[in-house]
Amino acid sequence: LRVARGTGNLRHMSLWALVKGRRGASGFGFASTAEEVTAGLDLSGKHILITGVSSGLGRETARVLGGLRGARIIGLARRREQAEAVAGEFGPGAVSIACDLSEPESVRQAVREVQQLGVPLDVLVCNAGVMALSERTVRHGQELQFLTNHIGHFILVTGLLPQLVEVGRVVMLSSAAHKYVPSGGICFDDISFVHGYHPWAAYGQSKLANLLFARALARRFKGTARTANALHPGVIGTNLQRHMNPLLTQVGMPLAAAIAFKNIPQGAATQSYLAVHPATATVNGEYFSDVNVARSSRYSRDDALGERLWTWTEGVVAAL
Ligand SMILES: NC(=O)c1ccc[n+]([C@@H]2O[C@H](COP(=O)([O-])OP(=O)(O)OC[C@H]3O[C@@H](n4cnc5c(N)ncnc54)[C@H](OP(=O)(O)O)[C@@H]3O)[C@@H](O)[C@H]2O)c1
Repeated sequence: LRVARGTGNLRHMSLWALVKGRRGASGFGFASTAEEVTAGLDLSGKHILITGVSSGLGRETARVLGGLRGARIIGLARRREQAEAVAGEFGPGAVSIACDLSEPESVRQAVREVQQLGVPLDVLVCNAGVMALSERTVRHGQELQFLTNHIGHFILVTGLLPQLVEVGRVVMLSSAAHKYVPSGGICFDDISFVHGYHPWAAYGQSKLANLLFARALARRFKGTARTANALHPGVIGTNLQRHMNPLLTQVGMPLAAAIAFKNIPQGAATQSYLAVHPATATVNGEYFSDVNVARSSRYSRDDALGERLWTWTEGVVAAL
């Protein structure tokens, strides 16, 4: 269904988005777009760092917050050329930095480059991610989804905290898939799935880790004006599905997208709202979906589990 135009591209809205018009307490809902949730905001003077700007939700978030609303975007991508190729959409002064989240030295180099910019960071949007690798893949001794989605972002965010402004925000892309995890949530006995790898359990565990990390950061921010929150953006057809069965992605996905998915502008709404909207300036330690507070899993609200993961991650990072 072709119902809205923007930036020269037709945007397809699913049947579900058309019927699910109900808006939540925020005044926004399932079908709200990043442009809508940031309408009227002037972000000039703000510096917003976003990982995974080369495609999908990260690219749209950078386009709206930078290109339309005036923030200066510090765009991180696996390779610098990928970020440079799209930086023209992100407004004047956009910076392109290489950051391969699965390579600790690349992440540390990105931290150094951001430090060298010497600018205060208003928002960190931890958006990059990889999903459901069909084969168990291990790098630096860690399963690749956990390494990329959680450990890479842990190094990046903890490295940049000194540069985050007093009212700075950290926004972590989690997923509703954080609920599809092994018993215990984080399987400390076998985090890298040496025994019985399952693509969705591995993705779910990494997305639970994103959520636990956001909440652990939020606890550390208590008593300050900084915030950390996590979110599920919705289900959106993007490059994220590249590791799934080709038959499913080429035949099933377009059909599912037409019926029930969000489009990319809608998918980028919740992270944009958490990143810059005045209504979320003091919201800390929450989980959002469809641009509203949502209930996350029991494991994600287990503070002891979150602290254990923090300590475990610090130990792993120190050895990487
Ligand atoms: N789409 C959905 O339905 C959905 C649902 C729930 C949650 N999410 C979450 O939303 C976030 C954005 O996903 P998306 O849908 O926009 O997918 P996408 O289009 O595939 O974008 C993901 C971004 O992450 C980057 N990335 C992957 N591995 C990386 C690495 N090792 N180092 C640096 N960057 C890396 C990708 O770069 P390359 O192109 O170089 O790989 C890409 O720019 C992810 O965290 C995902 O888990 C998405």
